[in-house]
Amino acid sequence: MISAIDAGNYMTKYFDGKQLRAFPSLIGEYRERNLRQQHGDHDFEFEYDGQRGFAGTLALHESECAESRKGESKAHPDARLRILLALHQYGEGIEHQIIVGQPISTHQETEKAAIKEMLCGRHELIVNGQRKIIVIRRCEVAAEGVTAGLLVPGGGVIRVIDIGSGTVNFGTLIDRRFNDRGSFTLGTGMETLRSVKPADFSRQIALRALAGGWKANDMVYLCGGGAGAVLEALRAYFPGIQLIEGDPQYANVKAFFLIARRVYG
Ligand SMILES: Nc1ncnc2c1ncn2[C@@H]1O[C@H](COP(=O)(O)OP(=O)(O)OP(=O)(O)O)[C@@H](O)[C@H]1O
Ligand SMILES: [Mg+2]
Repeated sequence: MISAIDAGNYMTKYFDGKQLRAFPSLIGEYRERNLRQQHGDHDFEFEYDGQRGFAGTLALHESECAESRKGESKAHPDARLRILLALHQYGEGIEHQIIVGQPISTHQETEKAAIKEMLCGRHELIVNGQRKIIVIRRCEVAAEGVTAGLLVPGGGVIRVIDIGSGTVNFGTLIDRRFNDRGSFTLGTGMETLRSVKPADFSRQIALRALAGGWKANDMVYLCGGGAGAVLEALRAYFPGIQLIEGDPQYANVKAFFLIARRVYG
């Protein structure tokens, strides 16, 4: 089955053309529980590769050391677990062809190869007592933010800012082609700042974009879960700025799926 997974630092997003899903990316330690209560729609007790723990809303409520690993690369075991949890919960069948994401700054051959290496092949994952074999036949790695620009119709210069929890991705497309020079990543996001004041964070974001050669009158589109929070403050720097169409938090995963269909047919 073909699907796209945006294993974000805050929320993991899944889309297969029909189902559009998300769950918190938190992972925490396992603990025997006397009380078993449903805390949310994404209570995951997992066992994978000798590791046992809580994830999603269960980690949020019951793990004492729940965290989501944030950073500019997703070539790490936590991201693998988020992706496998998504496939376990929402994927159909055993075999999968997937597109996953990586911030622009680390969208490099070595990092992409590391991600493919950790994902491709056979995995055995138990979630809430249900054992599943997950075989990832093919995996490609898309760049976060800039890929979402494919959702904007038309050509010319399109700029995209993806306001994530641990990163902000700046993407530039020229006539629907990704432009490296105008695309980069800021290694902070909505959850990594101690106190996010939209005006201050927006100033940092805008100055970074302007330093990267963006112009005030460019066509700039916002996506990512933090988009709504900074939209108005960013307007002072980019008067024509607007939210990408649809729920901005799902923009990346929807764009990844466009690529999945193109690559895997
Ligand atoms: N309605 C909202 N208002 C303000 N902030 C929001 C809202 N909804 C989500 N967020 C923020 O958006 C962020 C999550 O966005 P998103 O899901 O795009 O991040 P992510 O993809 O998980 O992270 P990253 O891109 O860094 O890997 C969170 O930090 C959250 O606080
Ligand atoms: Mg993101």
